Amino acid sequence: MANELARGMAWGTGMETRVAGAPESTMFHPVGMSPSGLAPEVLASRYRELLKERLDGGEGHAEELAALAEEWARRDPLAVEQVDGIIARAEAPFREEMGTASTAEDRWRVEVVLLEARTLFMEACLRGRERRLRDLADKWRQIEDFPDTLAAVVDPGTLARAGLERLKGLLGLRKAALLELDRNGHLVPVAGDTDGLEEPLRLSGEASGVFLGKRKALYADELRESCAWEPGKGWGGDAVLVPLTVRKRVIGALLLGTLTGDGWEEQAYLELETAEAFAERLAVALENARLHEREQRKIRETLALLEMARVVGSTLDLEEILRRVVEMMVDVCPVTMCLAYLAEGNAFRPRAWAGFIEELAGELERRGDLTLEDLGAEAKRALEEGRAVTRPVEELGGLLPGDVLAEHGVSEALLQPLRAKGRTVGFLALFHAGLPSEEEAWEEERLAEAAAAQASLAVENASLYADIERSYFSTVQALAKAIEVKDPYTRGHSERVTTYALMIAEAMGLDERERQKLKYAATLHDIGKIGIAGRVLNKPGSLTEEEYTHVKTHPLLGDSIVEPVEFLQEPRPIILHHHERYDGNGYPDGLRGEDIPLCARILSVADAFEAMRSDRPYRKALPLEEARRELVRNAGSQFDPRVVEVFLGILDRHGGDPIPREEGGEGLAGGGGPAVARGEAGGAREAGGMGR
Ligand SMILES: [Fe+2]
Repeated sequence: MANELARGMAWGTGMETRVAGAPESTMFHPVGMSPSGLAPEVLASRYRELLKERLDGGEGHAEELAALAEEWARRDPLAVEQVDGIIARAEAPFREEMGTASTAEDRWRVEVVLLEARTLFMEACLRGRERRLRDLADKWRQIEDFPDTLAAVVDPGTLARAGLERLKGLLGLRKAALLELDRNGHLVPVAGDTDGLEEPLRLSGEASGVFLGKRKALYADELRESCAWEPGKGWGGDAVLVPLTVRKRVIGALLLGTLTGDGWEEQAYLELETAEAFAERLAVALENARLHEREQRKIRETLALLEMARVVGSTLDLEEILRRVVEMMVDVCPVTMCLAYLAEGNAFRPRAWAGFIEELAGELERRGDLTLEDLGAEAKRALEEGRAVTRPVEELGGLLPGDVLAEHGVSEALLQPLRAKGRTVGFLALFHAGLPSEEEAWEEERLAEAAAAQASLAVENASLYADIERSYFSTVQALAKAIEVKDPYTRGHSERVTTYALMIAEAMGLDERERQKLKYAATLHDIGKIGIAGRVLNKPGSLTEEEYTHVKTHPLLGDSIVEPVEFLQEPRPIILHHHERYDGNGYPDGLRGEDIPLCARILSVADAFEAMRSDRPYRKALPLEEARRELVRNAGSQFDPRVVEVFLGILDRHGGDPIPREEGGEGLAGGGGPAVARGEAGGAREAGGMGR
């Protein structure tokens, strides 16, 4: 009885505090009716009034009673059990009266009035109950259909938003939010109305057991007590937290704000059941979407790893590989920022990063190198031992400022060592906003390990390659020296030609491999002169036709000298064609324009310029301006004009010759006349006396 009274009171309270303009819920708002009329004793009293009016010969307010009864039963279908009690209470005084009635006719008249009213009242109650059950059945049908209607939605975020909207519509909720259970057992708001929910809900005490263990809903009072959540900003004091469960495991929660009328505890237990049924389906749909997403992620991961293996196999460019590694981690993992450090002596230097906001990227560059000590004792030990480790950002202040990271929601970082030859040669650091779920964390570690293995391999390859390259190149330099002994005027020539050629190659954007090829070819381009008689090479005057023909064999000779050397196969065509002319009048093959390998065209400009800028037995070095003019004059005939243009740009940027020379200022003074004329013996004029 007290409870029933309380319900009546609660209804009244609900009406008075209802937000103006809030959508009407037909379930809770009997329009034009006194809400207090819904307490059972009020119903009984109105019922009694009706009986009295009818027994007094009037019609009575039958329709009003029927409407009240119908609404009462609709609001609380299970309360129909109380119908007999209400009828008995209403009829009691009249039955008493009937007992004292004098005639059978009087008794019969009372009996008829009571029976008519009872029929009216019961019919109204049944109508109300039926309306409510139909309404619920309709909602349940919609709930049952929910997974089907969203079958095509595979993105968990979209699904969550659609689910919340559907539930708000179904139940007439003001607010609803979806929260995800993280691995610390905190409920993190992820979708829906998350205002007023800035912090995760951290359940504790008994409520935690009820919610997570027994998977039962919690009410606002329990939330207030358990995790100090004060429902504000329109959530209302009677919000309810419904668990999202999959296979008896809580994966999250729906926080449902006030119905646009009553509180949850008072009248809406059926709505709560509806919400729970909905939550069950939503949880399954979400789980399926997540499984789908996880599968997609696995596919992406596998593809990314394959791609990385391909990159490691196809380039020796360590920077490029590290860049791909960090980009992959940010693309494939839920990681927001990733950076790669490599050992540089006793320190570690940031070499590649991805996903960084400007502020932090700037900080990285500003800080530069660090030592493992800067990462704290635990991280240092783990990295030295080659173990991955996750540390809170406060400990990693040496890496990046913990307070800035915390501002961006980053609380911890995974450090994954890069190992080569049994040593830690670097590490990857992975950060992300918010805590990953246990499973995400596991996947991230696994992928980081695979990425680190590839990066480690690349570091090892690069260092092996650097060793081999060093030894190859010293062999090549020794070979080049051999020709300089024979032709003292060319001392340092190939080294300087190499410097110019590589500057042009870089300015033209040639990749590492092409530049490497060019470096070898430039160093060795005149190796064939070993086979040319010293007296011809060092002849101060003009060459005879025969001598010039002899000199012109040096590219072919050079090619045949390097032919048996495995690692010089790629530079061979450049050596062979470094005397071809852009107009097709060069040698040995008379190749023209783009048919001449680009590196050979570059080498040709570098070679001519270096020769012009050096003393020769037959002339003095040309001043810079003179050499420049020769290049311009011969662009398009002897030289590729594009290469000349690039080289002139380099000279401009350097404000002169990039290799410092003594500027004699004597111009063309000296032995054999204009340098450019030296080639004429062989036919076409060559800048720089390249006939030699
Ligand atoms: Fe040459």
